[in-house]
Amino acid sequence: MSFTKENIIALPNPHLRQKSKRIGLITNDIIQLSQDMISATLNWDHSREHEVGVALAAIQIDQAYKMIIVRNNYEDKNDESFTVFINPEITKLEGTMSTDYEGCLSVPDIYGKVKRYSKVRVKATGLDGKPFRVVAEGFLARIFQHEIDHTNGLVFIDHIKDDPQAFYRLDEQGKLNKLDYNDVKKDPILW
Ligand code: NI
Repeated sequence: MSFTKENIIALPNPHLRQKSKRIGLITNDIIQLSQDMISATLNWDHSREHEVGVALAAIQIDQAYKMIIVRNNYEDKNDESFTVFINPEITKLEGTMSTDYEGCLSVPDIYGKVKRYSKVRVKATGLDGKPFRVVAEGFLARIFQHEIDHTNGLVFIDHIKDDPQAFYRLDEQGKLNKLDYNDVKKDPILW
């Protein structure tokens, strides 16, 4: 049975705050996990008119393993290929700090303006067992910081808890509307 968007867990599920385990041997189960993550993300993507399923961490399908998938071309909704990163780690945060909108499959319809580094260096292992490194800038650097946060039990809203201006909700027309800070604070999912 193929994984779907129903397999994606969302806040307030406490598993999202859990630290994922490092992956040792790349077994068939680990390879299967990467395929389950991709199929859940694409199923979600197909159900969302105004958004693109850009990336996912394994904990988001309730598997506490250090694995993330990142879409190869997230500017093109028709390109459904992903790269798998096993045990991804940021080795260096660089550049300047920049603030931009960020969303998460585990925080439906909520966006936040999150401050991130503009450049990161990442090391990981591929599905073939070989280590590799990437340097990412701009939005891709943001994606890595967001996804590697997930492997450490962090969700993007944790970065904006004290910022009354930072929360937005996506409406049915695909527009982001600023949320009232007092409503955010009363929301058991966000707070
Ligand atoms: Ni996320």
